Amino acid sequence: MSTESQPGTTPASTAPVVRLVGVNKHYGALHVLKDIELEVTKGEVVVVLGPSGSGKSTLCRTINRLETIDEGSIFIDGNQLPEEGKELARLRADVGMVFQSFNLFAHKSILENVTLGPIKVKGMKKSEAEKLALSLLDRVGVANQKDKLPAQLSGGQQQRVAIARALAMQPKVMLFDEPTSALDPEMINEVLDTMISLAKEGMTMIVVTHEMGFARKAADRVIFMADGQIVEQATPDQFFTHPQSSRAKDFLGKLITN
Ligand SMILES: Nc1ncnc2c1ncn2[C@@H]1O[C@H](COP(=O)(O)OP(=O)(O)OP(=O)(O)O)[C@@H](O)[C@H]1O
Ligand SMILES: [Mg+2]
Repeated sequence: MSTESQPGTTPASTAPVVRLVGVNKHYGALHVLKDIELEVTKGEVVVVLGPSGSGKSTLCRTINRLETIDEGSIFIDGNQLPEEGKELARLRADVGMVFQSFNLFAHKSILENVTLGPIKVKGMKKSEAEKLALSLLDRVGVANQKDKLPAQLSGGQQQRVAIARALAMQPKVMLFDEPTSALDPEMINEVLDTMISLAKEGMTMIVVTHEMGFARKAADRVIFMADGQIVEQATPDQFFTHPQSSRAKDFLGKLITN
């Protein structure tokens, strides 16, 4: 397994947006990602399922280098994710991330939360960043909240702001790690609907979720992880009706009986 894969050998236009080759990661004695091979093509929506502790969050976090890897390579749009430096910051901006907790800046307005990245990281003019932010806030249905502070919004609204903030960096891929699991039930659908429309508009997405309805409706492909490995990959229909592995059968069985 080489850690020396040549970057830039695939033209960006035909390269997968995200490509993981032989990725391994340990936390001490725990082998948390095992020989991960994954390619996500432009416009594809991949839903990652699996039991708690199977490595789903770690997988997401390695893709924008919030976590280092021990072995293997990660490519974003054909470019290998470097260890550090300017190039890392640039590639990281190509990867939008939305977490369970919204992590909005508490003392900044909704509008400022969305303009901050484009101004600071992309050097966008304030007026231009505000125009972009307003169109994105409108797209996720919270433009009328622009002057409020995050705490004055509902959880569902805050999460939609977090989506707008990630989109403001004009990422090539959006990663979602359980974006609805901290929300009250009545707010889950407004966030899922926003994600479904993003998917329909052709955004490349990797989504960790327990929302099987979303997986069925929006996923092009389901990836099932267990013990740090990708155990199964299939269309949602194939996965939910004919899971192959005993781990996947067990996982789905528990969902149905709960
Ligand atoms: N920073 C860390 N240090 C040590 N171990 C960690 C760390 N982060 C995660 N782990 C361990 O790595 C394994 C995978 O964790 P991860 O958070 O990726 O799982 P997950 O599939 O996202 O689970 P969940 O569905 O509960 O969110 C778990 O056993 C976890 O305890
Ligand atoms: Mg997780």
